[in-house]
Amino acid sequence: MKPKIKPLNPCFSSGPCAKHPGFSLDELKDTPFGRSHRGSLGKAKLAESIERTKKLLDLPEDYLVGIVPASDTGAFEMAMWSMLGPRGVDVLVWESFSKGWATDIQKQLKLPNVRVFEAEYGKIPDLSKVNFQNDMVFVWNGTTSGAKVPNGDWIADAREGLTLCDATSAIFAMEIPFPKLDVITYSWQKVLGGEAAHGILILSPRAVERLESYSPPWPLPKIFRMTKGGKLMEEIFLGSTINTPSMLVNEDYLAALKWAESIGGLPELIRRSNANLAVWEDFVAKNGWITFLAEDKEIRSNTSVCFKVDLPEDKVKKMVKLLAENEVAYDCGSYRDAPPGLRFWCGATVEASDLKIVIQWLEWVYNEVK
Ligand SMILES: Cc1ncc(COP(=O)(O)O)c(C=O)c1O
Repeated sequence: MKPKIKPLNPCFSSGPCAKHPGFSLDELKDTPFGRSHRGSLGKAKLAESIERTKKLLDLPEDYLVGIVPASDTGAFEMAMWSMLGPRGVDVLVWESFSKGWATDIQKQLKLPNVRVFEAEYGKIPDLSKVNFQNDMVFVWNGTTSGAKVPNGDWIADAREGLTLCDATSAIFAMEIPFPKLDVITYSWQKVLGGEAAHGILILSPRAVERLESYSPPWPLPKIFRMTKGGKLMEEIFLGSTINTPSMLVNEDYLAALKWAESIGGLPELIRRSNANLAVWEDFVAKNGWITFLAEDKEIRSNTSVCFKVDLPEDKVKKMVKLLAENEVAYDCGSYRDAPPGLRFWCGATVEASDLKIVIQWLEWVYNEVK
């Protein structure tokens, strides 16, 4: 029987992700439209985002947080372009974004001593292979394959190389041991349901040391430059952005941070995302036709949850279309480079109560299409 109730929010895209529950444009009314980002008001707004971020994530005191252009891609590429080169690099690849970083390192930066450890979609590489004398580049969560690293236990505390982590679809939804990471990046458009355009770049003291002691042999565009005369431009990490940011997007990020604080902070964000995954685990256990792409529970993502369905690709696409046409779930097809299937974003802004309705529809569309 066709279900009658629909989810309150049918947005299940893995980026931009659903806005936080109750979001309203009213929350953006204090945007300093038409005011300079370098004036005291604008700068205070940007500094507030940085301060609230540090507090919400409970970052180590000596870690720096900067707002940078071009979303997570901008943040991660400026880190790679500025820091990689003096050591060998170990790159962990298990889906399309991590593959993209490996391409950057091998084909654009053309670094000589690079080891790529690759796993197929739904799996992760053997983490014990990493040599922490090298720099290491990885994603915490593979957004397009639904597989994540299980924890940070495998990362050496005493390491010579730097650890560069693209945490965009993990941060605010998974436990991340920040002292094990030297560079952490993310986009505002993921777990907190912010807007794209800006990224966050977090640096450990060791990352700062690298920036101040190493000058890459290739040209660095202004947008990537974090040092001047061999010294870190500390003002970037206090709210003086490299170029003009969107104050509207910043206001939206502040609204998302305030929502996160209001519901109980990081533990509650993580709990919500895990509760969303639990809805799916229950559903998959009861339905033989749908399975997780990441079979191993230890590495199964609780944000970008990816599925295989026992139907040919065109029929899975029909399921995705039917879900959207019925305004039940938008954008829930697998990523273009991933194996055909379904992907539902389950970050902190998604309500488990909505997912419980979606699974009823999913059963219905499956039977319709089959
Ligand atoms: C793991 C990962 N890295 C990088 C990106 C790129 O993010 P953005 O488009 O915000 O730069 C994404 C986007 O989905 C992602 O999932």
